[in-house]
This record gives sequence, C-alpha cells and structure tokens, in this order.
Amino acid sequence: AQQQAWLGKKLLITAGPTFEDLDPVRFIGNRSSGKMGFALAAAAAQQGAEVILITGPVNLATPPGVTRIDVRSAQQMLAQVQAHYSGVDVMIGAAAVADFRMAQPAAHKIKKQANQDELMLTLIKNPDIIAWVAQQVDKPYLVGFAAETEAVADYARHKRVQKGLDMICANQVGAGLGFEVSDNALLVITANGEYPLPTQSKQALARELLAQLHTELAKIEAS
Ligand code: PMT
Repeated sequence: AQQQAWLGKKLLITAGPTFEDLDPVRFIGNRSSGKMGFALAAAAAQQGAEVILITGPVNLATPPGVTRIDVRSAQQMLAQVQAHYSGVDVMIGAAAVADFRMAQPAAHKIKKQANQDELMLTLIKNPDIIAWVAQQVDKPYLVGFAAETEAVADYARHKRVQKGLDMICANQVGAGLGFEVSDNALLVITANGEYPLPTQSKQALARELLAQLHTELAKIEAS
C-alpha cells in the first residue's frame, strides 16, 4: 500500500534558490542545491502523486514522473505558483527564496569607478510566495521549511503561525548542515505536535516526511 500511498493526490513543490539579478552578469541568491525539494518530488511521484516542481537554478536531473518548471527569480516563482496552486492537495515550500531583490537592476554591467571602495545597492522586499497561497480560499495543505542558524525551533514555530502554514519543517543550516549537503535532519511542527526526524539522507527524510504528511491529511479527512 505504501508504494502508491499518494495515488490520486496532487503536490506542488518549490525547490532551490532564487537568483535576483543586480546587472546582466551578477546576482544575489541563497545557498540551496535543490536536493531537499527534488527528493520530496521524487518520493511523492514514486508513491503515485501527480507532482509539479517549481525550481530555481539548480544542477539536478528531473525525477521520473515529475512535471518541472524552471524559474530564476522570486517574482517568476510566485507567478508559476499562482498559475499552478489551484486544485493541489499539498504545497511544500522547500525553496530558499531571496527575501530582497534589486530595486532597479542595472541594464549594463556595473563598472568600478576609480578609487571606489564601497558600493551601495538599494534592495526591495520580494513577495512571500507561500504566504500568498495561505491567503487564498482554495489553499492546499501548506508545508513550509525554515532554515535557521540558531534558535531553530522557536523561529520555526513563529514562522508557521506568521505565514499561515499547517506544517513547518525546521532545519539547522550552516557549515556542513542543511543546504548543499546530502543529509539533513528536521523538526516537523504542526498545531498539534512536534516530531523530530533524525539525520539521514534527504531521500530517506523525504519518505519519512511524506508518511507524516499522509497521517496528517488522513486525520483531516476523517474529521
Ligand atoms: O536545497 P538544499 O541544498 O537541499 O537545502 C534545503 C534547504 C535547507 C534550502 C531547505 O531544507 C529549506 O530549509 N528551505 C527553506 C529555506 C528558508 O530559509 O526559508 P525561509 O525561512 O526564508 O522561508 C520559510 C518558508 O517560506 C519556506 O517554506 C520558503 O520556501 C517560504 N518563502 C520564503 C520567502 C519567500 N519570499 N517566499 C516563500 O515562499
């Protein structure tokens, strides 16, 4: 049964970083390889789900059976999420979205001036993608991720409520932890409880998280 546990369900997953262009040759972005989001997409598709994966720039192969949409910036990711969230059962935001972008990206390469020691850039806030979905009447079950370097559980609990999410998966990031590497550990937080998922490969972690999610959905459907 585990094999096709997600048959008939539709998942929307965001993954990877977003890149915000400063000029035609430079950008700012977050550290994310996309591995966590791609592992979730692969595991869900393997278990029968219809999966749409909206990803920032990453160097990963599309998992079998997954519909992949490539984007670069937060604004592009938001537009694709807006186009695809409707009719989805579960949305998982594993993407590390840049919180800010250039107010006005330069049309040409920004040149160093003679004797220049500082460069001032004006950044403006990017839209919050998952918080936008949380405000829709036909919102899916919403799962966010929280990458933190300190006070991980506290920040994550706060983010879950602040963004209007059903579940948040907290992970500690930093040297050798969370992003880019192959293993991860999560603290899964819902309104009803908290469940630690110990350090393991992102593939194994994805399967455990999907099992936990499946239980949560079953509880809702039964109520
Ligand atoms: O890609 P990997 O190398 O495998 O690394 C995985 C990961 C560490 C990037 C991943 O597990 C993770 O934690 N992703 C979330 C990163 C993060 O810091 O998110 P956040 O705290 O900025 O945002 C919280 C939630 O809101 C996330 O679900 C995020 O996708 C979402 N968000 C954030 C900002 C924004 N503008 N729009 C959003 O939808």
